[in-house]
Amino acid sequence: MSKPKVIVTRHWPREVEAQLQKLFDVTLNVEDKPMDQGTLQQAFRDYDAVFPTVTDQINDEVMSAEPLRARMIGNFGVGFNNIDISSAKARGLVVTNTPEVLTDATADLAMTLLLSVARRSGEGERHVRSSSWSGWRPTHMMGTQVTGKVLGLIGFGRIGQAVARRAHWGFDMRVLFFDPYPPRGDVVRNLGAELGESLEAVLEESDFVSLHCPAAPENRHLINAERLRLMKPEAFLINTARGDVVDEAALNDALEEEVIAGAGLDVFEREPKVLPGLLERENVVLLPHLGSATRETRVAMGLKVLENATAFFNGAQPPNRVA
Ligand code: DGY
Repeated sequence: MSKPKVIVTRHWPREVEAQLQKLFDVTLNVEDKPMDQGTLQQAFRDYDAVFPTVTDQINDEVMSAEPLRARMIGNFGVGFNNIDISSAKARGLVVTNTPEVLTDATADLAMTLLLSVARRSGEGERHVRSSSWSGWRPTHMMGTQVTGKVLGLIGFGRIGQAVARRAHWGFDMRVLFFDPYPPRGDVVRNLGAELGESLEAVLEESDFVSLHCPAAPENRHLINAERLRLMKPEAFLINTARGDVVDEAALNDALEEEVIAGAGLDVFEREPKVLPGLLERENVVLLPHLGSATRETRVAMGLKVLENATAFFNGAQPPNRVA
C-alpha cells in the first residue's frame, strides 16, 4: 500500500522530519517560507493530510478546495484558533493538536517574562550593550520584588497550573486564579492556589496577572481598558496565551497613563506585527512567540503530530483529536 501523502507547512526539527520521511510520502518546507492562502488551499487538493502551524490560517476558503483530498489536519501546536473547526467538521476533516508536551516550556517562559519585567532585565541588558552603564549604585535600576507577591492566573488548565507550581513552590507567591471550569479541590490545594471570587477580584488583588486562557472567541479582548483599570498601578500583565486575549491598544494606553506598571508579552494581536507604541516602552518585555521554543519541546510537538497522523491513517482514534 502506498504511504499517505502529507505536507508540512514550515520547517520542523530535523529529527522529526527524518521520521516523517520514513512514515509518509512527505513534502517538507525546508526553506521555511510561510505559505500563502492559495498554496494552502492547493495543499488540501493535493495531500491526504496537512500539518500546519499555529500561524497558518486554515479558514473556510482554504478548506473549500475541490476536489478535497485532505482528510486530516495535524496542527503543530496546542492552540488551534488558526483553524475554522466548524468548517473542518462540516467537511469531515479530522483535526488534532499537541497538548501536554509544551506545558513546562510555556510555564517556564511565563516565569521568564514575569521575572524579566519585574527585574528590568531587558532594559538592563540594553543598558549594558549600549555601553551606558556607569557602575553599581544603590538606586540604579531598582525593580520589583517577585518573591512573596500575589500572582493572579486567568485560566487554570495545564499551563496555568504549571505556572502556579513554579510560583508557589519556587517563589513563595500567593497564587489566585480564575477559571470558569476549575479543577478539583485537591488539585488546587496541592498547587497552593486559591480560586478567586471572579475575574475582576483576581485582577484587583494581584501584583502580577498571567494569562493562560484559550483563544476562544469569547476571550477576545478579555483584558480590555476597563479590566486593566481594575489592576493595581504597581501590577504587571504577562501574556503567553494568545495576542487577542488582550486589547493591545488599550494596554498601550494603560501603560502610557501608568494605569499598570508594565507588561511581559510573548504573543500579539497581529503577529508578527507589534503595536509601535509597545516597541518604544522600556517597561515592556517583548518576545517573539517563544512559549514552546525549546529543542526538546519542538521535537516532542512534532512527534505528537506524527503519533496522531499514524493513528488516523491506521484507522484508530488519534490521541489528540479536537474535531
Ligand atoms: C501553541 O502550541 O499553541 C503555541 O502557541 C505555539 O507554541
